[in-house]
Amino acid sequence: QTSVGILGTGKYVPERILTNHELEQMVDTNDEWIVSRTGIRERRIAAPDQATSDLAFHASTAALQAAGITAEELDLIIVATITPDMYFPSTACLLQDKLGAKKAAAFDLSAACSGFIYGLATATSMIATGMYRHVLVVGAECLSRITDYTDRNTCILFGDGSGAVVLGAVPEGRGFKSFELGADGAGGDLLKVCGGGSRLPSTAQTIADKQHFIYMAGSEVFKFAVRIMGNAAEEALRKAGMDKGDIDLLIPHQANIRIIQSALNRLELPEEKSMINLHNYGNVSAASIPIALAEAVEQGRVHEGDRLVMVGFGGGLTWGASVLVW
Ligand code: ACO
Repeated sequence: QTSVGILGTGKYVPERILTNHELEQMVDTNDEWIVSRTGIRERRIAAPDQATSDLAFHASTAALQAAGITAEELDLIIVATITPDMYFPSTACLLQDKLGAKKAAAFDLSAACSGFIYGLATATSMIATGMYRHVLVVGAECLSRITDYTDRNTCILFGDGSGAVVLGAVPEGRGFKSFELGADGAGGDLLKVCGGGSRLPSTAQTIADKQHFIYMAGSEVFKFAVRIMGNAAEEALRKAGMDKGDIDLLIPHQANIRIIQSALNRLELPEEKSMINLHNYGNVSAASIPIALAEAVEQGRVHEGDRLVMVGFGGGLTWGASVLVW
């Protein structure tokens, strides 16, 4: 079986910065509360003329360049997102056209904040079996478009951005060693956007009722996240024949600094062994992990042979973890 790994990474975040101080003008909150409860100081907001596929495009061209391949060499594009440009065509098809990736198949993947890990697992299996050579996996979100900026429980958390990777064959010994994916649909009501689908089609009433914005039972999601981050990471390590002492760098979903700290405690890791950038970007759902990975690479924090663990959780409920030898 082919060893599959990451050939190149890329990221893109919009220029507009929304600070905690600006949020103080919008809702009853303050910088001290947001920083101490979440770790977030600012987040990026897409320009009015930017949609998810535009953010994905910039991250993807960076990843292709880093991988040293052209868009025509892509066999498949997977975009993990909960904020597609529209119902259909998929954001992956829109991206395929923007990139000129004429030979690539394309589809979107919906697993909320775990979407990027789900996408990596899907792409890795397809390359390992010989079906495809090069797959572009993107996490891209414009969460600002589904955020209620009058709800202080949620609007402080989310931001916009995109991260992308090109997957392909790597020398034996390197690449993805395991995946641990999971779901608990019974917890679906804890984190959702319920308007606009076939259950509750858009009407003037659904808009007035704010059904098109993110609803979140924050403390329930928090408890789930604390439990599942450690569980999923440990299970992925076990499947890879490793244990927590083997981790060189943890790349967690960037939802809340306290969730990350509890995962670090559970894995007995010092903070230096994890990539944390949520103070700059907030929670970017499916884009959080690939943006963090791309920044870790940019900052020279990832070296050949390093053992990386990526782990995330999100709406669904879903979770995913992976062990990767760089
Ligand atoms: N500013 C000031 N006060 C606030 C704010 C705010 N922005 N938001 C809530 N509060 C208040 C609450 O009203 C509450 O007041 P009360 O005690 O008078 O009722 C108090 O602060 C404490 O609220 P809690 O919800 O208990 O605060 P907690 O410490 O749990 O932090 C938070 C809330 C940050 C939302 C936390 O629960 C969290 O991070 N949850 C997980 C969120 C998450 O990771 N979501 C993943 C989404 S990923 C995806 O799939 C899109």
